[in-house]
Amino acid sequence: MVTQAIIPLAGLGTRLLPLSSVIPKELLPINGKPNLEYIMEECIEAGIKQFIFVVPKNRPSIKKYFFNDNFYKKIIKKKKNDKRLKSVFKRLKQFQKMIKFVYQNKPEGTGHAVLKCTKYLKGTHFLMLLADDLIVKKNCSKEMISLHKKTRGSIIATTKVKRKTVSRWGILGFKKKTRNSFLINEVIEKPKLSEAPSNYAIIGRYILPKKILSVLKSQGRGKGGEIHITDAIKTLVKRDEKFYGNIFKGKYIDCGTMDGFIKSGIAISKYL
Ligand code: G1P
Repeated sequence: MVTQAIIPLAGLGTRLLPLSSVIPKELLPINGKPNLEYIMEECIEAGIKQFIFVVPKNRPSIKKYFFNDNFYKKIIKKKKNDKRLKSVFKRLKQFQKMIKFVYQNKPEGTGHAVLKCTKYLKGTHFLMLLADDLIVKKNCSKEMISLHKKTRGSIIATTKVKRKTVSRWGILGFKKKTRNSFLINEVIEKPKLSEAPSNYAIIGRYILPKKILSVLKSQGRGKGGEIHITDAIKTLVKRDEKFYGNIFKGKYIDCGTMDGFIKSGIAISKYL
């Protein structure tokens, strides 16, 4: 059973500056709600029971967003009849029960973020989500968990992207493709067009095996001096570990770039 989700939240969000210099990119509102909440709702609906947030110690706003009880208690006392206020607080309390914080003080990569969670990981597999990749209309995490149940393998969310944009993504090579999935035989992070094995890109949802931790522990630093999850996945695929691409049915909204973020409000409102 996949019941834990790691959400790395220590990135600098440079593509969203200057907004992200004040508000962490994951808290930027899209139609009145931070994208982090959309991601959490997707996970809860898919059966996730615990979130592990990987945050820098010197960026307290994410913790404050969810754990600001005194603030809410005070205004609820003042505005006793405000039903909305009570329901906002109730929702945050429900999230609180599910969140654990782990610290990564510098953005040292998604692989490094996963390593930081080692002591909390329980089952054989866990979910990892990149909070700036929204997938709406159809629950992608749910699709991935059901593919995992069927195959017992690890799963990566994927969609076709324009060929000329392959160098923006992690790209998957595959064999045995069906309409909704394929068995992965190659993974390349941000390849040149001439090196890309396909135009199926990794989108930020992964069901990973706990054994990836031992690969990460001995893995050297990759591009930009970071420990990348893609490199560890590549090692496991080479060792014949089963990784499947889940060609998700939902609509992908890239909120990690300024252009995508600007379009996200309109895009999401079509599906709410
Ligand atoms: C990360 C991953 C990449 C993936 C992308 C999806 O890149 O490293 O493999 O395709 O997310 O959004 P980043 O967006 O951090 O550059």
